[in-house]
Amino acid sequence: MYAITGATGQLGRLVIDVLLKTVPADRIVAGVRNPAKARDLADRGVIVREADYDRPDTLPTALAGVDKLLLISSTDVSGRLPKHRAVIEAAQRAGVSLIAYTSMLHADTSPARLAVEHRQTEEVIATSGLPAVILRNGWYTENHLLALPAALEHGAFVGAAGVGRFSSAARKDYAEAAAVALTADGHAGKTYELAADQAFTLSELAAEVSRQSGKSVVYSDLSQAAFEGVLTGAGLSADLAALLADADAAAARGALFDDGGALGRLIGRPTTPLASLVASALRG
Ligand SMILES: NC(=O)c1ccc[n+]([C@@H]2O[C@H](COP(=O)([O-])OP(=O)(O)OC[C@H]3O[C@@H](n4cnc5c(N)ncnc54)[C@H](OP(=O)(O)O)[C@@H]3O)[C@@H](O)[C@H]2O)c1
Repeated sequence: MYAITGATGQLGRLVIDVLLKTVPADRIVAGVRNPAKARDLADRGVIVREADYDRPDTLPTALAGVDKLLLISSTDVSGRLPKHRAVIEAAQRAGVSLIAYTSMLHADTSPARLAVEHRQTEEVIATSGLPAVILRNGWYTENHLLALPAALEHGAFVGAAGVGRFSSAARKDYAEAAAVALTADGHAGKTYELAADQAFTLSELAAEVSRQSGKSVVYSDLSQAAFEGVLTGAGLSADLAALLADADAAAARGALFDDGGALGRLIGRPTTPLASLVASALRG
């Protein structure tokens, strides 16, 4: 039996879609914070169980009979370590044979503050002794494209990444990699740096949007503080804005770049090109 936490999220749903191609629905547990949001998954025959990182009492039942677990990192960027620890401890008690964890690219060496809790979570997993596969996901290309409507309106993407290259990939590609790591043999003990085959700077992203949209869009590089201000002005919490601006500054120093090709090898095909993702975002 497989279990996916955060299964009502965007990545979790994509992982379940991939698993359903080869695994019977009644062998997949969707671990969710709010079962009411998972009715569609239940309708597809997936077992829906409450698995709230903030309510460890939900976790033993959620993981009962589970063999392989995908722990999708929490969205709570200011305090996720205790949540992850609760799931890892529950997985130990449940006797899972494999835990996969969605970490961050180069979490062990990354200067980005966002990497700290990923690094700590990897350490908790290592200490637990559970067989594990660490999926160090790069940035989602979809993150960059959240700014597409504003970029088209104002003629510019903004950031603090300078000429830093992002090896960002599609969520769907990371989801396929997670499904492979769970279902295929031989991944226990591995750490994968998962990133797209082709990297881009934010100027190259702007150029691709210009080419496809026919509108002039440039990349405007700001200081980290100014970019943080833009993000809070757009409605992000102060904590999240600070972390994302910090990540952009880290990207300027190469923190979100990787050319090892592990993602393409894991999914057995080239990663989804930036041009395809821009095209689908422009279609809306
Ligand atoms: N690599 C990147 O670029 C990148 C970007 C953004 C995020 N991330 C990380 O990747 C993860 C998955 O991304 P995503 O796009 O799928 O995020 P998402 O769509 O926001 O989904 C996050 C999921 O986590 C669940 N969740 C939040 N708090 C929880 C709790 N206390 N207990 C159980 N579940 C909880 C949410 O439940 P509800 O459905 O009930 O809200 C949701 O299902 C994120 O959580 C974050 O750690 C990575």
